[in-house]
Amino acid sequence: MTITHDSSTRAFELIAPEIRADLIAAVRENWPDLSDGLGERGVHQMVVFLATSAGTDAPMTPSLRVDLFWHAFVLHTKPYADFCTALGGFIHHVPDRASRNPAEARAAVIRTRSAISAAGYRADPEFWPGREHRRLFGGLLAVPRRVLRQPREHVASQPCEPGERRQPSGPAPGGRRADRRRTYMNDARVAAWDTYAQGRAQRRTTNARGESTWFNWTQYPDHGPGAEQLSLLPGGRVLDLGCGSGGNLAHLTTLGMRAVGVDVSPAQLGKARARWPGVGGMELHQGDALDFLVPAEPFDAIYSVFGAAYFTDPVLMLPAVHAVLRPGGVFAMSQQPAVEGCYGCQASYIPRGPDEDPAVVRRWDYPTAAWPGLLRGFGFVNCTATVLPAPARGRRKIGTLLIRAVREG
Ligand SMILES: C[S@@+](CC[C@H](N)C(=O)[O-])C[C@H]1O[C@@H](n2cnc3c(N)ncnc32)[C@H](O)[C@@H]1O
Repeated sequence: MTITHDSSTRAFELIAPEIRADLIAAVRENWPDLSDGLGERGVHQMVVFLATSAGTDAPMTPSLRVDLFWHAFVLHTKPYADFCTALGGFIHHVPDRASRNPAEARAAVIRTRSAISAAGYRADPEFWPGREHRRLFGGLLAVPRRVLRQPREHVASQPCEPGERRQPSGPAPGGRRADRRRTYMNDARVAAWDTYAQGRAQRRTTNARGESTWFNWTQYPDHGPGAEQLSLLPGGRVLDLGCGSGGNLAHLTTLGMRAVGVDVSPAQLGKARARWPGVGGMELHQGDALDFLVPAEPFDAIYSVFGAAYFTDPVLMLPAVHAVLRPGGVFAMSQQPAVEGCYGCQASYIPRGPDEDPAVVRRWDYPTAAWPGLLRGFGFVNCTATVLPAPARGRRKIGTLLIRAVREG
């Protein structure tokens, strides 16, 4: 059977309902909020993308959302091959690791969207950001994705961030962040972290070495490496994603850095202001870390200690970090190592009162060995992931996963 390109519905129907359901389920692993209805639309947009690709020799670039569906479909090799045959020939999924320029990536996706429209199909704006989304999607456009579950040869080039959970922000108070993307941020999440803040004591006034400020990557006091991991020079501009009560930021200011922190929790920031009053060179912002990562003045280093980078999907966080990091700058984050077999989005529970359910926040865990590849997929180099053992003395045995990478120069 051969189909023509005049009916995307006919092409859509070439994919059996059970395969469509399976594609939606697979995409949902990376996009937990995906509804069945939106999932069907996603399959349909993948179909119009492939149908348009089949009718042109021009390179076509999927949006990140469409790419998720395509990846899932490619893994169903038999139905995918049958579908391509019906379109007139096999459509290969060709990696393009050479081009990482966000502007080029954005332009490629916009060209593809135009080609879809020119071919007579409707490009669903939920799945195809256009020129009007330029600011909204900021630095997230250049980047690949699913490097964890997919064979390498199936990694597509330059998909573009869809932005399902983002809305353009209106003018911010004072106008400062007027053009920032606004990530979904619900009161429950803010409340959860405020609860966390209430349950945590302030940082000690001095550490075991008698220092009044210090940098700690781990969950243990007086343990692990320090600020040298960030390879900063005095005067450098550094960003803490999920800075909490600001102890690491305060230390960086004593080293002469311009230290900026963002945290979603007003209670955490309140503790930071109370603990470090009058610390010069420290700037605190309340809000979601992703919203803060809009290309403006670049940072010389970005880090997150059990912070926002742990509690945000790396497929969103890593390209956003990459976009605002100076070439040659370090990105480093620490978190607990994953529990074997528990990968992807996981639940973390924050205790509340004895008669209350705990608050739940989401975190993302992957095998230690997967992190360097994940980072490389988003344009980082010199990528390492290491589990620092827990202190030898003491009963706790869980180490700290320290992830470090450099934005290519
Ligand atoms: C476990 S605490 C760690 C705080 C701090 N980094 C430290 O080492 O003490 C996690 C922090 O990340 C913040 N956070 C979590 N998700 C965030 C997000 N998406 N954007 C900004 N802050 C976030 C929380 O409010 C909280 O302060």
